[in-house]
Amino acid sequence: MNRVEVPTAQPYQVRIGPGAVTELPTLVAGRRVAVVCPQPLVDLVGRLGLHDPVVIEVPDAEAAKSPDVLVRGWQGLAEAGMTRGDVIVGLGGGAATDLAGFLAATWMRGVDVIQVPTTVLAMADAAIGGKTGINIPAGKNLVGAFHEPKAVLCDTDLLTTLNAREVRSGMAEIVKCGFIDDPVILDLVEGQDVLDVTSKAFVEVLTRAVTVKAAVVSGDLHERTSSSGHVGRERLNYGHTLAHAVEAHKHFTWRHGEADAVGMVFAAELSRRYLGLSDEVVSRTRAILLGIGLPITFDEVEWADLRGTMDLDKKTRFDPETGRRVLRLVGISKPGDVAMIVDPDEDVLVECYRSLQPA
Ligand code: GLY
Repeated sequence: MNRVEVPTAQPYQVRIGPGAVTELPTLVAGRRVAVVCPQPLVDLVGRLGLHDPVVIEVPDAEAAKSPDVLVRGWQGLAEAGMTRGDVIVGLGGGAATDLAGFLAATWMRGVDVIQVPTTVLAMADAAIGGKTGINIPAGKNLVGAFHEPKAVLCDTDLLTTLNAREVRSGMAEIVKCGFIDDPVILDLVEGQDVLDVTSKAFVEVLTRAVTVKAAVVSGDLHERTSSSGHVGRERLNYGHTLAHAVEAHKHFTWRHGEADAVGMVFAAELSRRYLGLSDEVVSRTRAILLGIGLPITFDEVEWADLRGTMDLDKKTRFDPETGRRVLRLVGISKPGDVAMIVDPDEDVLVECYRSLQPA
């Protein structure tokens, strides 16, 4: 079992490997537990070795992150008589863990949460770092709280039933960690069969990605410290500015990691023009993502439409002097070396978008 410490003010561990979830009963010993999970995982709750757990069933995927589901969750906790000393467990993909975290942040003004992610994406990203929340009609994740878990159990045995598309999509987040912080991930992805979730290579790249995320969030828990010389938690957004726009324009029919893949190619092209990223790393970006089976081309939407959506990105800032919204994107000058690209030229953005056209 690999263990990664997240050294925030209240440090916690991420445990990674086959069988990690068997540690749950010890972690919650002597306390009542409410497990928040989608319907397909309800059977699993009975096999976790918990004493008489309360089950809060939520819809699958993003539908879990709605105000209605949140209210039903609070009601479920009230009916079960959950107290401040009890614990909530988030079991599922990123949507279930985000909702469980927000329930925990708000129930009785904050109770403990332990996250048990069941997708590659949630293990590498959503379940770690304390971002919790729901969506409202005006946008995704607009309501939420930072509420760090007490522990995260990434049990790779729980991934064996995932379909290949889910695994590939989660791998995009792992590759992202390679580009922003730990280039060894890129070497491993190129040299080994990391798509086999039962392999040692998979556990290694996942552990490395979790280590990157742990270091980044502990340095900037509330995503506040980017400055010209240093990029904090925002660095986790490498490729995401275009990716979020692509996801919205595809009406969320693409997996997050698929949009991220296209977004990383765009970010690499932009980094080549602004930060001197070499042609070799730009080509390597395309080759790695293609090798995983992720999309690297996209020209299905008019640039003006995508550009408008990119303006809503949370990294964008308002400049009171000019009255303009200033776009800020994460770039790299080489793998592991991140810098912000602020207010890029509109023609350059168009050129980078054109470079995504299929040959
Ligand atoms: N998913 C990006 C972050 O946790 O900051």
